[in-house]
Amino acid sequence: MSAKELLYDCQDVRFVYPDGALALDGISFQIWRGDRVAVLGVNGSGKSTLLRLLDGLLEPTQGEVRFAGTPLTERNLQHPQFGRNFRQRVGFVFQDADAQLFNPTVWEEVAFAPRQLGLPEEQVRARVMDTLNLLGIAHLAERAPFRLSGGEKRKVAIACVLSMNPEVLLMDEPIAGLDPRMQSWLVNTLKLLHDAGKTLIVSTHNLHLLPEIADRALILSEEHTLLADMPVEQVLSDTHTLVQAGLLHEHLHAHGDTVHSHLHAHEHHH
Ligand SMILES: Nc1ncnc2c1ncn2[C@@H]1O[C@H](COP(=O)(O)OP(=O)(O)OP(=O)(O)O)[C@@H](O)[C@H]1O
Ligand SMILES: [Mg+2]
Repeated sequence: MSAKELLYDCQDVRFVYPDGALALDGISFQIWRGDRVAVLGVNGSGKSTLLRLLDGLLEPTQGEVRFAGTPLTERNLQHPQFGRNFRQRVGFVFQDADAQLFNPTVWEEVAFAPRQLGLPEEQVRARVMDTLNLLGIAHLAERAPFRLSGGEKRKVAIACVLSMNPEVLLMDEPIAGLDPRMQSWLVNTLKLLHDAGKTLIVSTHNLHLLPEIADRALILSEEHTLLADMPVEQVLSDTHTLVQAGLLHEHLHAHGDTVHSHLHAHEHHH
């Protein structure tokens, strides 16, 4: 068996936004082809920033993000061959669909990437139709993306990335805002994509679905460091790390006349 291809090699990555906000503080990890990685962390810990770095939309302030051996710098991404190859191999579903969708209709939106890939119009049409049907949004084809509901927008954003059929999928909280049926559809689709050999890097707050969508978790701390890089099956039982990351909290409860504390996942409403 050949060794797995090293796709991402992040070394001591620090990112500070122009206004001085620190988003990532010296994090290092590697991702191999076919990996399924979840990115966890509280609001503001740096998940979206990390995914933007992995998509080459941001460049580290310090340190390096390499993709298949090449640093993801603006200069390298402007190189026609590397840039084009990278954009074909990596697809990104934004956390904020409004930042991703810019075409006048859903159809145009989903057709955009396959057209960029230079596919003949007939194939573009077939691919768009297949993808819209897959997501059950063919009826939205002529609608304007910015006029859709939040969940509909998210489905269109997912359709856009699926229509380009990339080898690496970066998804920033794709589950958030989807109804239960679409959540199971997405979880199932991610499984199929994984079985097909795709590399999945998905940020989420959903600890329940975590074991279904990832094998490994990168946990960011509130201080923007990498708190843990561990197998998903260890994450849920590692309450110490989860509390440290702020993903579980202690909560006082009154049951009858006794008061005691429990650990809770933040996603629970109580
Ligand atoms: N465009 C920006 N300009 C300045 N600071 C930013 C910008 N985007 C994010 N930040 C800051 O960088 C830090 C990390 O933000 P990021 O969006 O990566 O967090 P996150 O983990 O994705 O949070 P959430 O769970 O809310 O999506 C936060 O402190 C945030 O305020
Ligand atoms: Mg985010």
